[in-house]
Parts: sequence; C-alpha cells; structure tokens
Amino acid sequence: APRVLSGIQPTADSFHLGNYLGALRQWVAMQDTHDAFYCVVDLHAITVEHDPATLRRRTKVAVAQLLAMGLDPDRATVFVQSHVPEHAELAWVLGCLTGFGEAGRMTQFKDKSSKQGTSGTTVGLFTYPILQAADILLYTPEPGEGERVLRVPVGEDQRQHLELTRTLAQRFNHRFGETFVLPEAHIPSGAAKITDLQEPDAKMSKSASSPQGIIDVLEEPGPMRKKIMRAVTDTGTEVVYDEEKKAGVTNLLRIYSALEGTPIPDLERRYEGSGYGQFKKDLAQIVVDTFTPIRERTLKLLDDEAHLDRLLAHGAERASRVAERTMETVRERVGFVGRG
Ligand code: TYM
Repeated sequence: APRVLSGIQPTADSFHLGNYLGALRQWVAMQDTHDAFYCVVDLHAITVEHDPATLRRRTKVAVAQLLAMGLDPDRATVFVQSHVPEHAELAWVLGCLTGFGEAGRMTQFKDKSSKQGTSGTTVGLFTYPILQAADILLYTPEPGEGERVLRVPVGEDQRQHLELTRTLAQRFNHRFGETFVLPEAHIPSGAAKITDLQEPDAKMSKSASSPQGIIDVLEEPGPMRKKIMRAVTDTGTEVVYDEEKKAGVTNLLRIYSALEGTPIPDLERRYEGSGYGQFKKDLAQIVVDTFTPIRERTLKLLDDEAHLDRLLAHGAERASRVAERTMETVRERVGFVGRG
C-alpha cells in the first residue's frame, strides 16, 4: 500500500474545525487505503513558550481525540514525535542542507515571529520546517516495499513546508544518492482553508483566532450553536458562494458542504429565498452531530490513561522500526562511521 504520514501540534486543549476538515478527516479515511503513520508533534509544540504540565495533558488529549475520530491503532500507527528520537536526528542533518535564506522565506515563521517580536523568537521556531521535513522523510518507503509513494494530508497553510521538504529530499538525493521519495501534499479541494467565524478573511487558528471565531471539536453543543448563529455573515440575505463579496457565507457553505457531502450549488438552491437564519441553524445541527460523539469518546478514552499509554508504546515501537532503518541509511550515506 502507498504510505501516508502527517502530524499535528498539541498546542490547544482541543483540535478545531479547521484541523478536522483540512486534515484529520483525511487521516481517518486514508488509514483504509494506506500504510498510515500519524504523529502528535510535541517537539514542534515547544517552539513557542509552553508550560510542561499543560503540554503533557494536551498531548494525551490530542491522542485521545485522534482515536475518537476513528483512527484505529491496529490499522494506523499513532505515536508521539518525541518517542522517536530519529526525528530530531534527521532534522539536524537536513538543517545542514538548508540555506539560511531559504529557511527565512517560510511565511509561517515570518508570521509567527513578527507576532512575538524578534527578541521572543527562537532558533527552534526558525528551524521548525526542517523538523517537519524530517518527520515526513523518515517514513520514506523502503525500496522493494511496493509502491513507493508518500502522501501528506494537510491544510493549505502547510503547502510551503511541503515544498521545502521536497527540495531537501531532492538535495539530499543529489548529494548522497537516491534515499528519499519526494512526498506529495494531499490538500482537500473544498476545505483546505477554513476561516475564522468572526474574521472570515483570516484562517481559523488556535493561536490567532478569538474564542468566538473558532469551533473546538471538544466544545459543548450550546456554545457551538451560538458561535455558528453569531458567525459574521455579510450584508444581503442570500446564501450564495462568493469568495470576495461574501467571505463569511462562503466559509459556512464550505463547512456545510464538506460535513454533509453536498455540493455547494445544491446548498445554494436548498436555501434560495430562506435567508441566513435557517441555513445557520441547520449547519449548527450538523456540526453538533459530527462532534458530539467524538467529544464523548474522547472523554471516555481519557478515563483510562494506562490504556492510552499502552497504545502509544505500541505506536512508538512501530514508528521506530521504520525511522531507525531510514536513519541507518542516512548515517551511512552522509559518511558517519558505524558503531560496529
Ligand atoms: P497544525 O498543528 O497547525 O495543524 C494541523 C493540521 O490542520 C490543518 N489546519 C487547517 N486546515 C484547514 N483550515 C484551517 N483553518 C486549518 N488550520 C490548521 C493544518 O494545515 C495541518 O494539516 N506544521 C504542522 C504540523 C506538522 C506536520 C508534520 C504536518 C509537523 N510535522 C509532518 C504534516 C507532516 C502544523 O503546524 O499543523
């Protein structure tokens, strides 16, 4: 089977609707058709100031949510990044192949660092995309493992990081011999960038959005409905798709369409002449119906921490088998002396 690898940061108490539609839903679907590796990237989470106890809790909540969404630890390898030290090791090697200017052109770094001011920015935040490249390339399928494909399901905001990953893979192969496959970004067509409910021109984001702008997967139905009913819509009353003039309604239409599986033109027809109210009410119901079972399963999974720990140990072991093999090849190719 082709391979899939993706990661998510444990930087909030809950994942949000953008994470779900942009990435996590694809993770679940792809476990049936791919040899799947999914990691909670705690090393990435410390690139901004953090509290240790909070990070530990959020990492567990992240894992529980992934399982609650339907990832099956028998089919997919679910693991925590820091359990597999090869991620950091490969990042070092790739960092030595990355130009300083090349790293400086990453727009996410520019956005995040400008918010923190230069004194608050760390070298870790700067090299973040290189660690991400390592996350991905470590899971390059071995020659002879059949179809050598590596797909990476992510939202639109990760496109540039995927491009850098491909560049670094190519550069490594060119310098040291064919080692890595070039990973393919797998970005959903309709829901690649879900926007903030209060600021429909900005991405829904755990770090930048206000609580009113973001729908959390683990949120209670009451607040969820309220936020959707209060989502910024545009002047006018018609439920029509128009990215420029009706960014708010367009975002809600995308969410609706992705969750229900109904094409947008069908939704426009369904709500012709009925105004925003009914449309929002129905959408709120769909969101509540989607996330309520996930919230309930997450809470249940968090009740048995020992069970979660066992699943993670199992995931780490399976991920390590692949990562260790890749890293052995890398060490040999770059000229490190073997330990014998
Ligand atoms: P992170 O943790 O910020 O987000 C996880 C996933 O959710 C997607 N996403 C969105 N999609 C649509 N609309 C939105 N508003 C939205 N907000 C977030 C992200 O694109 C992402 O797919 N750098 C990564 C984590 C990472 C990673 C990796 C991903 C580390 N190593 C290896 C893939 C492969 C990140 O910050 O995602």
